[in-house]
Amino acid sequence: MEDTTEDSHGCGNATHSEGERCSDNDFGTSKLGTKEYWEEAYQRELETFKDIGDVGEIWFGEESMRRVLRWMDKAKIPENAAILDIGTGNGAFLVELAKHGYNNLTGIDYSPASVKLARSVLQAEGLTDITVKEVDFLNSQGDLKEFDVCIDKGTFDAISLNPDDTKQDKKLYVQTLKEALKDKGFFAITSCNWTKEQLLERFSEGFEFVQELPTPSFQFGGKKGNSVAALVFMKVHEHVTD
Ligand SMILES: C[S@@+](CC[C@H](N)C(=O)[O-])C[C@H]1O[C@@H](n2cnc3c(N)ncnc32)[C@H](O)[C@@H]1O
Repeated sequence: MEDTTEDSHGCGNATHSEGERCSDNDFGTSKLGTKEYWEEAYQRELETFKDIGDVGEIWFGEESMRRVLRWMDKAKIPENAAILDIGTGNGAFLVELAKHGYNNLTGIDYSPASVKLARSVLQAEGLTDITVKEVDFLNSQGDLKEFDVCIDKGTFDAISLNPDDTKQDKKLYVQTLKEALKDKGFFAITSCNWTKEQLLERFSEGFEFVQELPTPSFQFGGKKGNSVAALVFMKVHEHVTD
């Protein structure tokens, strides 16, 4: 299994250096924001998995999963909590969650090849009780609801890089997330394209910031920063005023 470290890789690195992190309005686009890109990538990874059993890329490395699991332990998320992995890719996080004892797991991805790969990876691990569905998170038709925890590792990043109408997509993402979560449900996001401050702004309405999960920091040109932001939010009931 390949372990991609945070230093050497991040979805944003394809187009942005750390200093180029952009505001909402000037965020660049990239092929990493297209379904074609992911479909091709997971078709290749599926072949490799069939050939040699390598599950492929672990986005942001193994530690990115461990830190979320540590938070789940501390937050005492029960083993039967309904957990959604948004944009599950190869399903590696689902495997880790299941090994950790979680038994009510769902992964979704809009790439059919990702879904096939994730299902194959889970089957190879003997994990037959996990739902993996082909769903576009931005067009899920109310299919996703009542989750206690939603996890995103690199998917909001990918969505933000979509060359078409990303501003609308980002709003839709937040809306779908609210619908998918129960009140007081948690959202754990790991991002390399957005800073903590930008994520706090993006998920300010309808969510309460819970905590930042520590990630490695770097120093460059006298400035200190983090290559990856990992934050936890809680969905709160919104009071609608007329
Ligand atoms: C950077 S990869 C991360 C994959 C996985 N979360 C991981 O950590 O290995 C981004 C994932 O988001 C998926 N994705 C992007 N846009 C999506 C959408 N609108 N709905 C569902 N999945 C999406 C891609 O197919 C890809 O699997």
